[in-house]
Amino acid sequence: MSKAAVLATIGQPLEVRTDVVVEAPHAGEVLVRMAASGVCHSDLSMQNGTMLTPTPIVLGHEGAGVIEAVGDGVSELAVGDHVVISWVPQCGSCYYCERGQPEICESTSLSVALGYLLDGTTRLRSAGTALHQMAAAGTFSELSVVPAVSAIKIPDDIDLSVAALIGCSVLTGVGAALNTADIAADDSVAVVGCGGVGLNVIQGAAIAGAGQIIAVDVHQSKLELARTFGATAVVDASGCDAVSAVMELTGQRGADVAFEVIGLQQTIDQTITMTRRGGQAILVGVARMDAVVNVPAFFGVVLAEKTIRGCWYGGAHVRRDVARIIGYYRDGRLKLEELISQRIALEQVNEAFEALKVGEVARSVITY
Ligand code: APR
Ligand code: ZN
Ligand code: ZN
Repeated sequence: MSKAAVLATIGQPLEVRTDVVVEAPHAGEVLVRMAASGVCHSDLSMQNGTMLTPTPIVLGHEGAGVIEAVGDGVSELAVGDHVVISWVPQCGSCYYCERGQPEICESTSLSVALGYLLDGTTRLRSAGTALHQMAAAGTFSELSVVPAVSAIKIPDDIDLSVAALIGCSVLTGVGAALNTADIAADDSVAVVGCGGVGLNVIQGAAIAGAGQIIAVDVHQSKLELARTFGATAVVDASGCDAVSAVMELTGQRGADVAFEVIGLQQTIDQTITMTRRGGQAILVGVARMDAVVNVPAFFGVVLAEKTIRGCWYGGAHVRRDVARIIGYYRDGRLKLEELISQRIALEQVNEAFEALKVGEVARSVITY
């Protein structure tokens, strides 16, 4: 039995259930005892219906824990291994994986979207009903079974509540800066939205050698935090026009590279506008389903020679990038502990959603 937070109905609070039955891992899967799970905006987006999801589902996709059992054919992981959970199972052999874009692996994406493990079923049940698992994971559960390709082994000495964040916000944010964008030394970078993911874009931009890093948010507390993560200038968009402010800070040219890390129509428009001619606008935030990229083709793209790039999961090659991130963390170039605003119990998950809505926390981390 496991305790897990279940979304039974879109729009309703998560139910913490203690009767969740966990089936043993099938071939190619592992059973993980979660040590911690971050509460990410994408979890909230599923709860409130912004992102489509089947129900009932165990949410949570930013976790870390210890392997408790392995299924047949799993040779690269063993009981006792510490692992970070990846929310994109990367098969390693499909069209995209072979072309260096495993973040959009095509052989696993349909199962994941439907809330299943890779064989189209799940390993969690409650009250006689199968529970879907977000991202083939479901880290809001003490125990979960995930595809072995989604469990990334890490050294035992990394605090698992810190490691949990690597699985989503760090891989996504740092990857957006280091993998998706092409940041040259001394570039000016604007980051619109300084939540758990945006703060990691800022850290990644600093590692890439950006000269100017402009943080844009509507909360002073986030902007103060952004400075400690490497922002060299901040814009409080609650009291001014973010585009004009970034223009002013970049000699009226616009940022060399601008990132949108929220997913709102207004901030997507602003991010593209504040990107200079010849620059790159990188869209990271999970946009509302009705949001559009609406740019005049000639003045906005052709003559402006602007690149508008989508970024999914920070372009992460999970095995390579988790190791790289741990290297940066050990070298002191990446802050992880400082991303955690509060450690909470699973029972407080709905309160963590409220805090995300208000925008007052970087990350709440559930510890089991
Ligand atoms: N202008 C600037 N900043 C804003 C605005 C705005 N109009 N509206 C909200 N923000 C800020 C919030 O104050 C908050 O700091 O955007 C930030 C969003 O952060 P989080 O809610 O913590 O979201 P996060 O978990 O970082 O995810 C960001 O990436 O993974 C996706 O689904 C996720 O789309 C979401 C995005
Ligand atoms: Zn996430
Ligand atoms: Zn693949």
